Amino acid sequence: MDAIKQVVSDVTNSAQQQTGQAGAHPGPDEFKGADHSQRDEGRKVGIQADMAKDVKTTDVEAEDGFDSYKPAGKMIDRKCLVTGGDSGIGRAAAVMFAMEGADVAINYLPEEQVDANKVQKTIQALGRQCLLVPQDLRDMEGCKRVVETVVKAWGRIDVLVNNASVMYDCPDITDISDEQFHHTIDLNIKGTFFLTRAAVPHMGKGSSIIVTASQVAYAGPPSLLDYTMTKAAQVGMVRGLSNQLIGKGIRVNAVCPGPVYTPLQEAAMSKGTLSEWLKNPAPIGRIGQPSELGPAYVFLASADGSFISGQSIHVNGGAIVAS
Ligand SMILES: NC(=O)c1ccc[n+]([C@@H]2O[C@H](COP(=O)([O-])OP(=O)(O)OC[C@H]3O[C@@H](n4cnc5c(N)ncnc54)[C@H](O)[C@@H]3O)[C@@H](O)[C@H]2O)c1
Repeated sequence: MDAIKQVVSDVTNSAQQQTGQAGAHPGPDEFKGADHSQRDEGRKVGIQADMAKDVKTTDVEAEDGFDSYKPAGKMIDRKCLVTGGDSGIGRAAAVMFAMEGADVAINYLPEEQVDANKVQKTIQALGRQCLLVPQDLRDMEGCKRVVETVVKAWGRIDVLVNNASVMYDCPDITDISDEQFHHTIDLNIKGTFFLTRAAVPHMGKGSSIIVTASQVAYAGPPSLLDYTMTKAAQVGMVRGLSNQLIGKGIRVNAVCPGPVYTPLQEAAMSKGTLSEWLKNPAPIGRIGQPSELGPAYVFLASADGSFISGQSIHVNGGAIVAS
């Protein structure tokens, strides 16, 4: 018991040193009235470091605000690979895994190196290893290389988080370009499949695969059609793969976030859509922070979730969805 307490105390202290003093989750009003007039409408990749500083949630997140999370040594020496681990929800999962004692490899697009460097620094300050593996996951051979890099370093993958995705809002099916459609399918579906296929041979009993799907797969918002199709495909993959791998002791689950303020929206939504979206949050009365998603990943990745597979955990601020 004492050894466990020491681990918890060590990681907690280390995390607090890294993150500074506790910051409460912001209330509904703090998300409203953000000025996004400086957003680059043409940008397709979100950079955490560039996010609007007038939205309280990102102020907290930009300072690596994971300090309200209390780790308990649940993932000591687990070897994890988190795609999109440089920012947003993936970053929260990666940092909380490290707070729980895991070593974490993060994948991201090369142009997001600035965010990745910050995450690496945070994880290393927790006393854990952080492997940086930049790679566009639309490239099948690239997916294999990402897995090979992690396996070469650590010999295995205990936890795979398929979190990278793109999303573009477009209210009319006839306006969705071939380019947008293929881009969304190539990353969200094919990339998720290729990376998982490459990783599974290196995963053993007790391993966990987590896919970041979305509330949209259940709700079907009209302006995110192609994205919604991919998120529904991810939920289907989770169910089928769970049935395929459960006999090997590998669990497969999805986290389905509701609205969470991350670089994805900054990069993909038009100014008008983003402002409306910020004004009309989840039933709870506000949008979420990535740090409110991270614990769901720890739950599914660790022994806490040992009897759960093939499921979707809805972390969406109170929206009731059919599962
Ligand atoms: N933020 C939300 O409201 C919300 C809601 C539901 C689901 N999600 C899902 O959460 C996940 C994480 O998104 P986020 O909101 O944290 O935003 P984010 O912008 O922080 O993360 C998206 C990640 O995708 C990665 N990425 C983009 N294109 C890539 C490519 N071609 N190859 C490799 N990586 C690529 C980026 O590195 C980035 O880190 C996504 O799967 C998204 O669909 C987000």
